Amino acid sequence: MNDVVPTQKNDFDTVCKRLSPGSTVLLRVDFNLSRDSDGKWLLNDRLFRMIPVVKDLLAMQHSVILVSHLGRPRSGVFDENYSLSTLCAPLEASLSRPVAFLSQWPYQKTFLAPGTVALAENTRFLVGELENDAVLAQQMVDGVDCVVMEAFACAHRRHASTVGILEAAKQCCLGPTHTQELSGIESFLKTSSPRVAYVGGKKLSTKLPLLEKLLERVDMICFGGGIASTLLHAKGFQTGTSWVEYNRLQSAQAFSALAQQQSVDLVLPVDVVVSSDTEQFSNVRTVDIHNILPHEAIVDIGPQTSARFESHARSAASTYWNGPMGIYEYRTGVAGSAHLASTLSTAQAYTLVGGGDTLSVLEMLNVNSFSHVSTGGGAFLYYLAHGTTPVLEVMSLMKVAV
Ligand code: 3PG
Repeated sequence: MNDVVPTQKNDFDTVCKRLSPGSTVLLRVDFNLSRDSDGKWLLNDRLFRMIPVVKDLLAMQHSVILVSHLGRPRSGVFDENYSLSTLCAPLEASLSRPVAFLSQWPYQKTFLAPGTVALAENTRFLVGELENDAVLAQQMVDGVDCVVMEAFACAHRRHASTVGILEAAKQCCLGPTHTQELSGIESFLKTSSPRVAYVGGKKLSTKLPLLEKLLERVDMICFGGGIASTLLHAKGFQTGTSWVEYNRLQSAQAFSALAQQQSVDLVLPVDVVVSSDTEQFSNVRTVDIHNILPHEAIVDIGPQTSARFESHARSAASTYWNGPMGIYEYRTGVAGSAHLASTLSTAQAYTLVGGGDTLSVLEMLNVNSFSHVSTGGGAFLYYLAHGTTPVLEVMSLMKVAV
């Protein structure tokens, strides 16, 4: 492994200012963003937070190669649906300067003049990326003076463009937003009780590992979204045509039992917004949780539930929110998330928010006054479970001081 200088000496400012002007910096970012049905990028904090970092590096007269993965294409096969090329335009608009696109990176070397920026093609097209192939990682850092690891959201992946480049780099450091992510999560973990989590989103199955870890960290979990429908159904409530993971009802019951054993309160909706229109989710009505009709589907949590969630936030020392409370893509399903966003953004508690869909809701609602907003979903969970990530391990930085 590369002899990485630990902690303070690995600090972004120290390392990057020590480089001679005109150095080439590989900035590993996470531009794993979604697009709408017209192919328009849904830009969020994963991109916006990188802009000041790139500007800082350019101000030091370095050239910057932005490197990211996007989605899960087949390796070795180009697929334009997964190309990063069309991201150059929004980057150029945010940086107010041209951004060159490196379609053949890292096989074709391009000279970048000091103070210029380029975006490399999706790393997941490259054979050897997922296997952390050492030859590929070496090719990625050929001609690079320093690797800056900003992509906290993929710090749990042992890929060539995550840990491989750090092992192969002449010099490397964590970027400032990566360090802020770790500090933000650590601050949440250090707060005293009561800690309240709000968990929404569609699938219980994908969130079960997170939920089981949260049981060790919080006093109460309040549920919305499709997850709440599955938990309600498992408790015997009629949920009509709502999204329910019928093959996870036993897991839902086992999870409720585990929460009881660990004295963690699970708070489920007492009222919901329902619709009989499963296409557009229009014609909604608000009903008590006992009164959902067989042809109705839950679209959102109701106002009484929102008020309860709010009162729990008001008496919490810290809160964590992951996942939308309703089908936020439709106007009729956004009120619960909007109420929670407004509650948490004005709460006295330490407020940590995280996960890809949650970032998209916040972007839609234009609310961002939280103690910390994490760009990481899987990486956040990994850090919660292990107190470190493969990226931190490789950098011999077990934890960053808060
Ligand atoms: C994410 O979106 O959580 C990260 O970019 C990691 O993506 P992956 O799960 O495809 O590795």
